[in-house]
Amino acid sequence: MQTFNFDTIIVGSGLAGLTAAYHASRYGSVAIITKSQLDTSNSYYAQGGIAGAISKGDSPDLHYHDTLLAGRGLCEKDAVKILVNEGRERILELIELGMQFDKENDEYILGLEGGHNKRRILHAGGDATGKELTLFLLKKTIEQPSVTAFEYTAVTKLIIEKGECIGLQALDFITGENKIFQTKATILATGGLSRIFNRSTNPHTATGDGIALAYDAGARLADMEFIQFHPSALSVEDKDAFLISEAVRGEGAWLLNENGERFMKEVHPLAELAPRDIVAFSIFKQMQKYNSPHIYLSVKHLDHQKIKSRFSNIYKKLKEYGYDMTKDLLPIAPAAHYMVGGIRTDFHGETNIPGLFACGEVASTGVMGANRLASNSLLECLVFGKRASEKAAKRKKSNIQILKQKELTNLTEHEKFFLDIKNEIAGLMSKNVGIVRRGNALKETLYRIQAIKNRIPSNPRDYNILKAEQTVDICTLIIQSAILREESRGGHIREDYQHENPDFRVHIIQQKNKEPEFIPLKR
Ligand code: SIN
Repeated sequence: MQTFNFDTIIVGSGLAGLTAAYHASRYGSVAIITKSQLDTSNSYYAQGGIAGAISKGDSPDLHYHDTLLAGRGLCEKDAVKILVNEGRERILELIELGMQFDKENDEYILGLEGGHNKRRILHAGGDATGKELTLFLLKKTIEQPSVTAFEYTAVTKLIIEKGECIGLQALDFITGENKIFQTKATILATGGLSRIFNRSTNPHTATGDGIALAYDAGARLADMEFIQFHPSALSVEDKDAFLISEAVRGEGAWLLNENGERFMKEVHPLAELAPRDIVAFSIFKQMQKYNSPHIYLSVKHLDHQKIKSRFSNIYKKLKEYGYDMTKDLLPIAPAAHYMVGGIRTDFHGETNIPGLFACGEVASTGVMGANRLASNSLLECLVFGKRASEKAAKRKKSNIQILKQKELTNLTEHEKFFLDIKNEIAGLMSKNVGIVRRGNALKETLYRIQAIKNRIPSNPRDYNILKAEQTVDICTLIIQSAILREESRGGHIREDYQHENPDFRVHIIQQKNKEPEFIPLKR
């Protein structure tokens, strides 16, 4: 197998990966490995923007309080302090570097989203913030001479020797070759897993690879039961759950039920702009009440020209689906959007395995609590991507050599096997592990997923077989954690335990071959 040596290896090319790579490039050689193209990531599709307390009437302290409120008592306060304070610095640094956020009369236009008590969402290209931001940073990163990119290359194993992560094995989809990468620091920035559900706002690549790799290597995972469902994804039969940004509600859009009533006004003082978990759950209840696959989003009462120019991409996309968003009621329903838990790290992105780091959606730094505050995710990428790269740079190179590894094939005949299993599991997850969960249904789903596991052959060693195993592992972890959390909190709603229970103000930790642990918050 061909072997490569880099000081830092970054897996994933979303905003967290690019931030880590950009900063790591100052300290030594860097490889970015992505299973798709460099510009394919969840960050790329972010519409709303990036939260930052940059206006005169705002402060990191106010942003801190909004984040804690949305997180329903499960945020690590010190992590949130880092997020809001350094987040502001990272945004200003990006602007200094040349990133252009949208302005009017030389002032930044600040948007509003659920759970924010101030306008603090910076955006770029109207509703194309993720695209503008990732392409900007991609260019800055890739032009660094110390950075090498490996596209269409999937990581298949993290290599742990003497308790340390010393590199990884990967499969090149183009040549079919297996490759070894040796390094002193591996940073996982592989994004989320929402594509394990039927309806998701994420690109097809969001399948939780980083979680599965880290778990298999012995990393500790935290709070895997918390999956955030975005309230407003288009709901049209046989069509993708296209995201209609929360920023549209920030501009005054209404949520209407089958009777045309603004039901959120009865639910929360912030109405349509309540934290996301509350809005998604309320929509779910309305859909149940009227036995309907959707409710409606309406901007008909707003300034049509303003909507068309502020949300030009959403407008165009909806037109392709046959809707004029300024004139039509838009059928929407919640869709899986964001993995709130993940690989547990310290405040510098390091996991319990020396040499293994994680940042961005795949990581659990403690900032998101039980429900992420809207538009805090790109901010987390900037803050903890930089922190991870700095701690990674301080590591000494190990003198352990990577031993010969077993090769993986990538045979097309196994592709259908994987896709069938993936679809079957996605159906089960959506039905029983969605917005509202019940103990019995969770246990039944776990049982059925274990039965699916028994159908996966242990041989041959093939990429699609590995993907099937990983999907089973990830879903098992989510369900086990959801069974253990016998309460309703944030994005985890149990029909059989309908209230928050102070005894559950704990993180649920899972690690391979160990019993789950309940650990209290630091403060
Ligand atoms: C959106 O634009 O509504 C998504 C933003 C986010 O998930 O933070």
